[in-house]
Amino acid sequence: MNQKLELSAAEMRELGYRVVDLIADHFLNGRDRPVGKKGDPALLRAAFHEAPPLAPSPIGEFLGRLDRDAFPQTLNIAHPRFFAFVPGPSNFVSVMADALASGFNVFNGSWLGGSAAAAIELNVIDWFRQWCGFPEPAGGLFVSGGSMANLTALVGARHSKLDEHTDRAVIYYSDQTHSSIDRALRVIGFLPEQMCRIVSDAQFRLPMDEVTRRVSEHRAAGLRPFAIIANAGTTSTGTVDPLREIAAFCRAEDLWMHVDGAYGAAAVICDRGRRLLEGIDLADSLSFDPHKWLFQPIECGCVLLRDAALLKQTYRIMPEYLADVHRNAVEVNPCDYGIQLTRGFRALKVWMSIQYFGFRAFQAAVERGFELAEFAERRIRTLREWEVVTPAQMGVVTFRRRGAGEGFYSKLHDAMLESGFALATSTVLNGETVLRMCTINPRTTEADIEQTIQWLDELARAS
Ligand SMILES: Cc1ncc(COP(=O)(O)O)c(C=O)c1O
Repeated sequence: MNQKLELSAAEMRELGYRVVDLIADHFLNGRDRPVGKKGDPALLRAAFHEAPPLAPSPIGEFLGRLDRDAFPQTLNIAHPRFFAFVPGPSNFVSVMADALASGFNVFNGSWLGGSAAAAIELNVIDWFRQWCGFPEPAGGLFVSGGSMANLTALVGARHSKLDEHTDRAVIYYSDQTHSSIDRALRVIGFLPEQMCRIVSDAQFRLPMDEVTRRVSEHRAAGLRPFAIIANAGTTSTGTVDPLREIAAFCRAEDLWMHVDGAYGAAAVICDRGRRLLEGIDLADSLSFDPHKWLFQPIECGCVLLRDAALLKQTYRIMPEYLADVHRNAVEVNPCDYGIQLTRGFRALKVWMSIQYFGFRAFQAAVERGFELAEFAERRIRTLREWEVVTPAQMGVVTFRRRGAGEGFYSKLHDAMLESGFALATSTVLNGETVLRMCTINPRTTEADIEQTIQWLDELARAS
């Protein structure tokens, strides 16, 4: 019995090479396979319903099961024809970085536990700070994704503006804002009536005249306007809220400005994105998701605060068993800046992939997302039976089939999944269901888009 849970050098290499082979095969041949599959719950749960094996199973057996029965029944969000939700066009270098971070099991919660990891994280966060144009005192940390980034930032905002007391506080955002904001607000103690969700304008942007009206109405009623959430790329349409105008209003009204850039903030690294995101540098806090448009594997999110010290005031607790951790003020302890104590070395994947490919490759890869959405828009416009609902913006285009009846998009979705050639998903705009393509995968080709749109048209005719 291997009670020490140890492997010999040969065993480690054998397992390691077989795992790397599976991953390499996935990256090399994924394009020729289906975009993935949704498993039948009864069959799939039965297939994986078992007691833990008491004795060792052969490697080939359990890896074979994963390869045959598990991974094909997930969606390949890095597939070049995966246009649904927000794709996750990860990269192999970052996957290896995750293996290293896990292999060395780096504790990235304190300077004592992982000094070099903290130093690398601080450096990568500083790259983000510079790309977004934030001033020097800005900083932040890596978290699991956009939802945690939004939560981490809003806790900081509550500390800064409300001294933790949420009673009568009100926060403002458009109806296009991601649900993770509502969830974060629930977690930090906001009631539905304190979340002022405002109907967006014709371009799906936050209408500032309405915000102004509501804020003054609420002040007059004795409520405490507290913050505005601005979107730097909404999930449905890629819309950017009027960031400069929101920032000016927040300054004038002493409100916190949080920018949810989980989807779109990475676009600041290319010229076009920087222009569209003008004013992002004025935010008090920002969510930024490298596991979306910065090509990192899940989980990789990030939160930035204009004043990093505020995160520390919000989160730092110094219990007696961490006295050795908190001895030296120049040592930065990531656990003081967020919710997690034990945390992985997420910055490594960003750092290592940028070392490997160079930053210019990332800039070009982001730029490509814009171009592909524009290409998709042009192709859709050539089809008589379809119309563009929102033009390509920030890598997203939405469109609809003229005269589509009840259930059309659900049927289309089922047909797409059934075939596995490509996947796009729907959203609802002004009460009407539309189809949406998000084109941020730099490995997508014009031919992929062309074929997908033609195929969608054929599916639609048949359904
Ligand atoms: C605009 C926006 N905010 C927040 C999130 C939540 O991010 P995550 O899924 O990484 O938690 C998403 C996810 O798509 C998003 O598009």
